[in-house]
Amino acid sequence: MREDAKLVFIFASICLALSVKYEPNWKSIDSRPLPDWYDKSKIGIFLHWGVFSVPAFENAWFWYEWKTAKDPAVLKFMKDNYPPGFTYADFAPQFHATFYDPDKWADVFEASGAKYVVLVTKHHEGFTLWPSAASWNWNAYDVGPHRDLVGALADSIRNRTDIHFGVYHSLFEFYNPIYLQDVANNYTTQNYVRNKALPELYELVNRYKPDVVWSDGDWNEDSTYWNATEFLAWLYNESPVKDTVVVNDRWGKDARCHHGGFWNCNDRYMPGKIIKHKWENCMTVDKRAWTHRRKIQIEDVMSIEELLAKIAETVSKGGNILINVGPTADGVIIPVFEERLKQMGQWLKVNGEAIYETQPWSQHTDNITFQGVWYTIRPQEKAVYAILTFWPENNQIILGAPVTTTKTRISMIGVETPLKWSLYRNKILIIELPILPVNKMPCQWAWVIKMENLKNY
Ligand SMILES: *[C@@H]1O[C@H](CO)[C@@H](O)[C@H](O)[C@H]1NC(C)=O
Ligand SMILES: *[C@@H]1O[C@H](CO)[C@@H](O)[C@H](O)[C@H]1NC(C)=O
Ligand SMILES: *[C@@H]1O[C@H](CO)[C@@H](O)[C@H](O)[C@H]1NC(C)=O
Repeated sequence: MREDAKLVFIFASICLALSVKYEPNWKSIDSRPLPDWYDKSKIGIFLHWGVFSVPAFENAWFWYEWKTAKDPAVLKFMKDNYPPGFTYADFAPQFHATFYDPDKWADVFEASGAKYVVLVTKHHEGFTLWPSAASWNWNAYDVGPHRDLVGALADSIRNRTDIHFGVYHSLFEFYNPIYLQDVANNYTTQNYVRNKALPELYELVNRYKPDVVWSDGDWNEDSTYWNATEFLAWLYNESPVKDTVVVNDRWGKDARCHHGGFWNCNDRYMPGKIIKHKWENCMTVDKRAWTHRRKIQIEDVMSIEELLAKIAETVSKGGNILINVGPTADGVIIPVFEERLKQMGQWLKVNGEAIYETQPWSQHTDNITFQGVWYTIRPQEKAVYAILTFWPENNQIILGAPVTTTKTRISMIGVETPLKWSLYRNKILIIELPILPVNKMPCQWAWVIKMENLKNY
């Protein structure tokens, strides 16, 4: 192409790119490329916080389980500890966030190595953690902390870190009377969507400019009831975050696992194979709940070994992982969660090159050593990583998937000398792991083998 023709071509391309307008239908919304910061990030932190953090009993469905008498333990807890006539709304003034220090939270998140944070700004109980004009007297500014909890965290994260700030928002609410009226009208009306759900979403985006809008509570209705594609077209075309924002798939029962941005599908989603469409595994460090529980026991908490294994498995299959830690009503992230997050950060500091900005390989796990080996690749360096979540007893790891050449170099991240390796029957790779004093080991919990110049990169 001649130079001037090239210029014209470039201009035309830019104009075309600038003029992309997304239409309010799934075909158009789904055609938007996912901003690439999200896939590169791999690891996020999820925070379930709200009025349910006051009883801090069982989970975020406390109100529902109490009122529907679905959980006898919740009924007994209320009967034993609260006077008759005590309502769920009476918990809200006890939500004080007394020790909420968002700067400290931001520092912990930074130390964890996570690249994005998703704060629950309103769960199914309907209580907004920001002073929403659509949630009169049922928000953290009018009741409880008397603070804009969302704005404070957004500021701290932006002032102190490069972490992307995101918001979780529940579309439906258990007991919102306007919502219940729309349901009773068999969705021939959208008064709740018009006066509550959508105004909140626009407010969140315009005010806090989140890079993630993580939707939930969509499952009883179709996306047409929620006017999801109308909102998303605005988000992608006109909003202040139109170029950076990512969304998930929970925008209606027709959307989940099919439409939107990245797919969450179900909670703790873990496919058995590599999924080409970007997906996210949202999961919890407290294996039993998304919210802080006063009854938490140490055996309910994921060990760092378990957490690193989940991260490796998720990333090897093309997913991101969103790791939940529920703060207390006082605004404290309990020390066992803080420790887990900091251990993760310690590990990522050494081994992050096998996680951040990686892609799945042709296979996510090995075909000889079936358990505890997860592969990722780094296209920039033509490197294949095998993350070992166990240490083999004889200090040898046997792998079937990598096909070596005479130029193949194999090392362990954090260890300078390359590792010795050999082939069994010309085919099966046997790698000798280094035997080092504990203080010379690159890490304590999961070890990464880096392979360069493989034939089947
Ligand atoms: C953080 O940034 C916001 C907005 O730029 C600013 O108003 C606030 O004072 C800053 N806070 C701190 C603690 O630096
Ligand atoms: C939903 O979108 C349709 C089509 O644009 C519009 O007529 C309707 O008023 C919207 N409803 C709400 C609640 O925004
Ligand atoms: C494992 O996968 C590699 C690479 O695809 C292949 O060459 C090898 O034959 C496989 N081995 C077994 C035992 O399936």
